[in-house]
Amino acid sequence: MASTLSVLLHCTLLVLLLAQPTHSSTIQKPKDATAEQKPRSSSSHTYIIQTNHLAKPSQFATLERWYSSMVATHSPRAAMNSSSRLLHTYGTVMHGFAVRLTEEESRRMSSNPGVSGVYEDAPYFTKTTRSPGFIGLHEELGAWPESEFGDGIVIGFVDTGIWPERASFNDSGLGPVRSSWKGKCVDAEGFNASLCNNKLVGAKAFIAEHGGALTPRDKVGHGTHVSGTAAGSKVRGASLSGFSRGTAWGVAPRARMAIYKACAGFICRASSIAAAIDAAVSDGVDVLSLSLGGPASPLHEDVVAIATFGAQRRGVFVVLAGGNSGPNASSVVNVAPWMTTVGAATTDRVFPAKLLLGNGDVLTGQSLYTLKARAALTSAVPLVSSPCGMDDLKPEKVMGKMMVCSKSAWRWRGMSIIHGPPGDVSVDDHEWFRDAVVAEPFTLPGLVLGYAAGKKLFAYISSVPYPVASFSFSCDTVTGQNRAPMVAGFSSRGPSKFVPEILKPDVVAPGVNILAAWSGESEFNIVSGTSMACPHVAGVAALIKKRHGDWTPAMVRSAIMTTATTLDNFGKPILDNGVGKDGRGATYATPLVAGAGFVLPALAVDPGLVYDAGTQDYIGFLCSLNYTVNQVRRFVPETTSCPTTLLGGVANLNHPSMVVIFRAGSRVRTLTRTLTKVSEDPETYTAEFAAPEGVTVAVTPRTLEFRHKKEKLSYTVEFRSDVKPAGAWDFGHIIWSNKNHHQVRSPVAFNWQS
Ligand SMILES: *[C@@H]1O[C@H](CO)[C@@H](O)[C@H](O)[C@H]1NC(C)=O
Ligand SMILES: *[C@@H]1O[C@H](CO)[C@@H](O)[C@H](O)[C@H]1NC(C)=O
Ligand SMILES: *[C@@H]1O[C@H](CO)[C@@H](O)[C@H](O)[C@H]1NC(C)=O
Ligand SMILES: *[C@@H]1O[C@H](CO)[C@@H](O)[C@H](O)[C@H]1NC(C)=O
Ligand SMILES: *[C@@H]1O[C@H](CO)[C@@H](O)[C@H](O)[C@H]1NC(C)=O
Repeated sequence: MASTLSVLLHCTLLVLLLAQPTHSSTIQKPKDATAEQKPRSSSSHTYIIQTNHLAKPSQFATLERWYSSMVATHSPRAAMNSSSRLLHTYGTVMHGFAVRLTEEESRRMSSNPGVSGVYEDAPYFTKTTRSPGFIGLHEELGAWPESEFGDGIVIGFVDTGIWPERASFNDSGLGPVRSSWKGKCVDAEGFNASLCNNKLVGAKAFIAEHGGALTPRDKVGHGTHVSGTAAGSKVRGASLSGFSRGTAWGVAPRARMAIYKACAGFICRASSIAAAIDAAVSDGVDVLSLSLGGPASPLHEDVVAIATFGAQRRGVFVVLAGGNSGPNASSVVNVAPWMTTVGAATTDRVFPAKLLLGNGDVLTGQSLYTLKARAALTSAVPLVSSPCGMDDLKPEKVMGKMMVCSKSAWRWRGMSIIHGPPGDVSVDDHEWFRDAVVAEPFTLPGLVLGYAAGKKLFAYISSVPYPVASFSFSCDTVTGQNRAPMVAGFSSRGPSKFVPEILKPDVVAPGVNILAAWSGESEFNIVSGTSMACPHVAGVAALIKKRHGDWTPAMVRSAIMTTATTLDNFGKPILDNGVGKDGRGATYATPLVAGAGFVLPALAVDPGLVYDAGTQDYIGFLCSLNYTVNQVRRFVPETTSCPTTLLGGVANLNHPSMVVIFRAGSRVRTLTRTLTKVSEDPETYTAEFAAPEGVTVAVTPRTLEFRHKKEKLSYTVEFRSDVKPAGAWDFGHIIWSNKNHHQVRSPVAFNWQS
């Protein structure tokens, strides 16, 4: 496996703009990383050695002794070298260890009968005032009071660490963490364990800062932001230099947080991520939030998929960011069905700023320009359209001018800021970012324009010999006027490359211009990415867990998915802000873009019915993917054979969404699903469905009568299709409805293959 994980942060801070050559959300792999990924046989490299602990020979008293003996046998050199002994051992969500080996030694290691997998430790790169209110959480009624604000539920964060002194982590009014909790805070450089309290109940580090200490302190802000979003305490008067002023809340403001640092700077390592997940589950977290991801790889080669499988098997709900590589199709990552995969959507909050052109036209963009921002109307200066390369931003070229850069020229923006042109206009240069949704924290007057406004700007520049413009900043935060949510252009889309018959992402949540706690000098920051969407769902899961302590992770996921909305605040279908050029054409967000829709916690705590799944279902799923028994054992070590392939294949996993692939010669597909009743009173549900033209649907039975709680009833759906062009996708849904009290909705994606 040679993959790259990134912290899925869409927007970079100015300080990072100097260092991060990126215009896209995902921080790209530096060029020299490829060399690091392909170790020459003589040089050593970290490998994750997964073992089947059931195969431990009895002569070894402990697993550690067995592992040391393996290292001594296959790499005497490593065994001698104290600095390259076992870097991590794993014993909760998976078994094994991490060690430095040469490529040749790693090959020998993989032939050891007790070893079930050897994975190269790829360098994984690191990729709210309004949002709780916008997803329908109110202090006085509904999901918040009903679930006691998630009180006592522990959310674990595998991320860049924490800045514990922030007001969002104040434990005022919180009782002690439950006595079964095994986590703790470690003393480390720059991090005194006494910084922890009844809110921050654990902090450990599994990766050292570059050239520095092993400390849970967050040097970059990402982990602090993510944990504040999911579980931050109420902070009055929160804002970023006046923007988004209001009360900042996490989604589950009384949940506790435990921090497992596996990313230093923006780089995470698979070996550290697995160690972090292992420790979190062993400590007893209820929910795990991972705002990171790599390129999609087959599940049995993906250490994060294997480790999170172990976590869900122990009852931990795991949520991950879906990636920031949209709007390209098949860009979604973290696609295993036991993961809850989250895409990013806007909220109804915008930070408008205007560009006044010399011809009188007014173009509206967005800006978080903070200095002298109050009602500042700058004077008209010459406009220069520039490639914005390093050479173009020399002081003599930019002084006294307003630079117009395309967003792909972001890499040099830091330079322009240092040299100080009077203005900086960024234009989204891809048609698919029709609206400038991501606001930027400029330190000089600046704003971001969408593609359409950018076209008008360039037309003006080329129509007159001396184009001029000025800015108008109001420092206003406007809410409730724009259509929202809208799926962000950068949010990664399905279908999943390796498991196309599982619909991903599962849901979308607020991930654009999110205000939450930050590291260092800044108490708060406003940033964007599927990294920010992921902890919103972690918070919702904490609220559900508080109400329903005995629910499996699959039940929690089902509740979130089947109650998600496909409509926006105007009552119209949620729009896709990143329609690609692949001919799909629709401007509404299809299930490949938004999954089941936008999360609504008020409904998710009371879904009526759920689609449950557990280890046996997932074994059937993995066997249906035609994995060998040895590959299935990486997930379930006690597997001896593959007797249970799912009847009808992968698509028959009891997932809350459906993918129906019609192949030539099989224009009829039948899927089976099982619903579990989770509400108290007897209820009768009837099926309603929608299907595209040329597809007929038959649900059997049409009515399900549930008498008691936990009762399970199954139904089948037969889909018949006309022939359609190979590669085409179309969409529908199935809703089990109980006189409008409960609506259990599943999106259905149809695909035609030759
Ligand atoms: C011991 O391991 C360290 C770190 O992997 C490496 O830098 C060093 O060269 C190794 N020493 C020997 C004698 O192999
Ligand atoms: C935590 O919040 C309480 C109540 O608002 C306040 O009195 C206290 O000073 C805060 N503690 C810290 C460390 O900021
Ligand atoms: C941690 O903080 C406590 C209380 O402020 C102090 O007594 C202790 O010396 C500190 N420990 C370290 C290692 O700095
Ligand atoms: C998206 O697809 C386009 C065209 O195929 C390609 O040029 C671009 O690099 C892709 N973007 C990402 C983020 O993969
Ligand atoms: C697994 O193998 C069977 C038999 O060859 C084939 O029909 C099926 O499509 C394969 N499934 C997948 C997911 O590749």
